[in-house]
Amino acid sequence: MFDVIAPRYDMVNRVMTFRMDVGWRRRTISALGLPPGSTVVDLACGTGDLAAELAARGLRPIGADLSFGMLANAPQPFPRLQADGAQLPLPDGSIDGLTCGFALRNFTDLQATFVEMARVLRPGGRVALLEVATPPNPVLRFGHGIYFGQVVPRIGAALSDGDAYRYLPRSVAYLPEPDEMLSMLTDLGFTHERRVLLSVGIAQLITATRGPG
Ligand SMILES: C[S@@+](CC[C@H](N)C(=O)[O-])C[C@H]1O[C@@H](n2cnc3c(N)ncnc32)[C@H](O)[C@@H]1O
Repeated sequence: MFDVIAPRYDMVNRVMTFRMDVGWRRRTISALGLPPGSTVVDLACGTGDLAAELAARGLRPIGADLSFGMLANAPQPFPRLQADGAQLPLPDGSIDGLTCGFALRNFTDLQATFVEMARVLRPGGRVALLEVATPPNPVLRFGHGIYFGQVVPRIGAALSDGDAYRYLPRSVAYLPEPDEMLSMLTDLGFTHERRVLLSVGIAQLITATRGPG
């Protein structure tokens, strides 16, 4: 599916989020809190939006994504590899940070992917996970439901692929509850877990630090 939507993926993102995704990505990288020169894996990097922003901040991105089409449609070159997030071809404790944008709900095995994040991060390494969310306010939640469930698929169908953009809103159903995701990280030895809502709660940012164990 991602191979199919790759050529117009960035443009559709900008349109359907009214460019808010650009600010959310910047916030994600700031939340890592890592110094320039740090090696950061952008997991499920897609066409490399987060990787480009990491490089612009002096960090050293390595993108990893399962979809060759997404990797091949990156508008700017960056070090990248085709890999499953649950089986990264990287040594234990070899990276300083990991970002992941809008992909938690796409992983078929989120627990195994979190285990892999913990394995490749060095002790003290940081994760920053950006994902869609549902606003807590009932009125906003109602409006967001209409926009995300009915308008986004139509924008996707008009600009890209209807089937894919009907699936994307539905894929939120695969996302565990926030507390459950934070507990999964705690159980893997992460510390300082934090979740903040962005733009009245239509996006969320989860950060955590790899513990010493
Ligand atoms: C919604 S896109 C997000 C792309 C990019 N991170 C962004 O912020 O725009 C989800 C990405 O997750 C990738 N993906 C899905 N399952 C994956 C897996 N098991 N391992 C690695 N990447 C995966 C897809 O190929 C796709 O590029």
